[in-house]
Order: sequence, then C-alpha cells, then structure tokens
Amino acid sequence: MNKKPVIAIDGFSSTGKSSISKKIAKKLDLIHIDTGALYRGITFFALENCLNDSQEIDIKSLFEKFDQIHLEFILNNGVLELFLNGKNIDKEIREPRVSDHVSLVAKQAEVRAFLLDFQRNLAQKGGVIMDGRDIGTVILPNADYKFFITASPEERAKRRHLELQHSGVDISREEVYENLKTRDKIDSERAVAPLKKADDAILIDNTLLNKEETIALILSHISK
Ligand code: DC
Repeated sequence: MNKKPVIAIDGFSSTGKSSISKKIAKKLDLIHIDTGALYRGITFFALENCLNDSQEIDIKSLFEKFDQIHLEFILNNGVLELFLNGKNIDKEIREPRVSDHVSLVAKQAEVRAFLLDFQRNLAQKGGVIMDGRDIGTVILPNADYKFFITASPEERAKRRHLELQHSGVDISREEVYENLKTRDKIDSERAVAPLKKADDAILIDNTLLNKEETIALILSHISK
C-alpha cells in the first residue's frame, strides 16, 4: 500500500469500536481519531458555561458561544488527547455527567455543522482511522475503507455492564440495557446525520466475536 489509507469505522455504542480502531491504528501505523470525544468536548463546555437556572444545558446559549470554543487534538505518546481552549480535557469528557448529556448536544444540527470541517481537515492528509456514527455517511464519504460495527443489544449491554462494574459503578444489567436502547434510539432517529450504515460499508456483527477476532476480520478486508 503506497499512500496511507483513510478508514471510517461507524457503529453502535459498546461494540468496541474505539478500542478496536485504536489497535488497528497501531498495527497499520495510522492516527486514531475518536470523534465521539469532540461531541463530548462540546458537551463539557456546555456544562461548564451554558447551564440555565434548572442546571440543564441551554442549547441556545451554547450556539451563541461557539466562538469561545477552540478544540484541538494533541498527540501524546502516539495517542490524540483532546484540549479545550488550551486545557487537556481528555479525562473530564469521560465523566458520567458528560455521557448523560452528550446525545442531546450531538443531535443538534448546529453542533454537527460546527464540527464538520474540523473532522474533515483531520483526515485530509490520509493515514487515519476515524470512528464515530456518521463518518462513512457524512464526514468522509470517500474513505478508502468503511466498516459498520454492530452486535446484539443484549451482548452490548453485557459488555458495558462488565466495564462499569470494573470501574466500580453500581448499576444493574437491566438498567444498562435500557440506557443503551435509549441512546441507540436517539442516535439512530435524530434528524441530522443519524447513525446508519453507509451503503458501501462492510457490516461487521461482532456479537459472537471478541476484540481480536473483530480486528482480524477488519484487517482481512483491508488486505484484500
Ligand atoms: O462514541 P461516544 O460514546 O464517545 O459518543 C458520544 C456521543 O456522541 C454519542 O451520543 C454519539 C455521538 N456521536 C455522534 O453523534 N457522532 C459521532 N461521529 C460520534 C459520536
């Protein structure tokens, strides 16, 4: 392969998309871009700067403050970390309060438009694997390779539940399942750039596959 490829990875949450993309990036010497981090970064900004009297995000106020948001990915030990106005927010964007509000922010057309060129510019020189929900359909429709990863909701809830248990969060499997279904619904049914497989993306169902098997399957398609 002469020029380094651009790879788009979309799919449902808790399919292992991000960690799979990270490992493929390492194997193929690509930069991994987790676009969910950008929506989380804007949500973090909104939680810090745009709350109304009921402590909920005031979306209008967020739109008015777009010019105060400067997001940047900075490479640290081969991994991109997200900075907001010069401050590293890579840890903060994983906090539950951000996870709880990010779907609301991500469904806004204005937010998606704000992030569109930013994401496209990151892929301009090639050599990237970008993961998200609308990479193959909207952000990089001409990507060299497109994959759409899915797994049964039951299996994804099981994985997420285990992950949460490991990080000491006390929550039932049923609750995790319900949260996941709600997020799937919001992501798939939103009016702008809904989560859906691009017509030319390769569908990978990893319900019965572990991470290594999923990676091997994706790599087998790339080396064809
Ligand atoms: O992948 P994640 O859980 O970090 O994504 C956070 C949220 O952002 C989730 O609600 C889906 C949304 N998102 C999106 O709408 N488009 C993307 N390209 C990436 C994430």
